[in-house]
Amino acid sequence: MEKQSKIFIAGHNGMVGAAIKKALESNGYGNLLVRSSSELDLRNQQGVLDFFEAEQPDVVIDAAARVGGILANNNFPYQFLMDNMQIQNNLIDAAHKHDVKKFIFLGSSCIYPKLASQPLKEEYLLTDSLEPTNEWYAIAKITGVKACEAIRKQFGKDYVSLMPTNLYGTKDNFDLNTSHVLPAMIRKFHEAKENGHLPVTLWGSGTPMREFLFVDDLANAVLFALESVLPDYLYNVGTGVDLTIKALAEIIQKTIGHEGTIIWDSSKPDGTPRKLMDISKMHSLGWKHQIELSEGIAKTYAWFLANQQDYKQVKL
Ligand SMILES: NC(=O)c1ccc[n+]([C@@H]2O[C@H](COP(=O)([O-])OP(=O)(O)OC[C@H]3O[C@@H](n4cnc5c(N)ncnc54)[C@H](OP(=O)(O)O)[C@@H]3O)[C@@H](O)[C@H]2O)c1
Repeated sequence: MEKQSKIFIAGHNGMVGAAIKKALESNGYGNLLVRSSSELDLRNQQGVLDFFEAEQPDVVIDAAARVGGILANNNFPYQFLMDNMQIQNNLIDAAHKHDVKKFIFLGSSCIYPKLASQPLKEEYLLTDSLEPTNEWYAIAKITGVKACEAIRKQFGKDYVSLMPTNLYGTKDNFDLNTSHVLPAMIRKFHEAKENGHLPVTLWGSGTPMREFLFVDDLANAVLFALESVLPDYLYNVGTGVDLTIKALAEIIQKTIGHEGTIIWDSSKPDGTPRKLMDISKMHSLGWKHQIELSEGIAKTYAWFLANQQDYKQVKL
């Protein structure tokens, strides 16, 4: 990949897109193309085609999506399905029509079946039913993976999909209506501490197992994919290590210095019992994560403290 290649990072304002932009800039990529959603709504097919016609990017990295936790997915199934399909379909099709050489599509581990064997291997895709709470989002992402695979198979283009595990880090979403578990816990423990170490109520039983990857590590995986020709169409990206939600809460509680009790609200859904990625395909090619969980949580909390007046509000 040449450093002057014109690379469109879709979703560069988001947690993932911003980390990718930073990683590319610090590795000498100086011809980056970005648009916010207010400048270019990627759900608008003609708008996206016009943009590709005018700009002729060499590479597209798709980090634009409607993203959210269990609550947001449950309450807004249509937007999670349709917005994500429109965004990725428009990007993939415009890239194909304008002969973009390389396309990196980002999905999520929720594409794999709810009760698949662990750790999750890429080959488990479409072998059983999905987790119902986020199937809308998952189905959209699966169609993106398949569209890239189809272009790869039919036209021999270097279109590849990376499936990150749960991500967290700087620029995370701390809005409790739409956030994922890790940033939600940071906000809850922080506010409970500020209010005199009040008890913290967390969703579910605390027993599900989850894996977390710091967003800069994902950005390095994208850089790795950009600079290599990956031989297959789908790669998991994670740490290969998981822990219970209870153990995660204890790390966050300790990092923040909250001294109150934790109440587990088991009337709320747990989601998939375990979700650990098999990352042997990426490891065999030479990529590995660098930032361990306790270090990443400390970095994320430091960012939260510096930016807490700007909790991101997802528009629905
Ligand atoms: N967060 C995670 O834990 C996680 C885990 C696995 C995979 N991923 C994947 O990583 C990707 C990015 O996630 P993220 O956490 O960075 O999400 P995010 O912080 O919510 O960012 C999403 C970005 O998408 C852009 N976007 C949304 N709708 C758009 C539209 N209609 N037109 C143009 N741009 C639009 C937004 O642009 P504006 O800011 O300009 O509005 C925003 O910058 C997604 O594909 C997601 O599946 C995330």
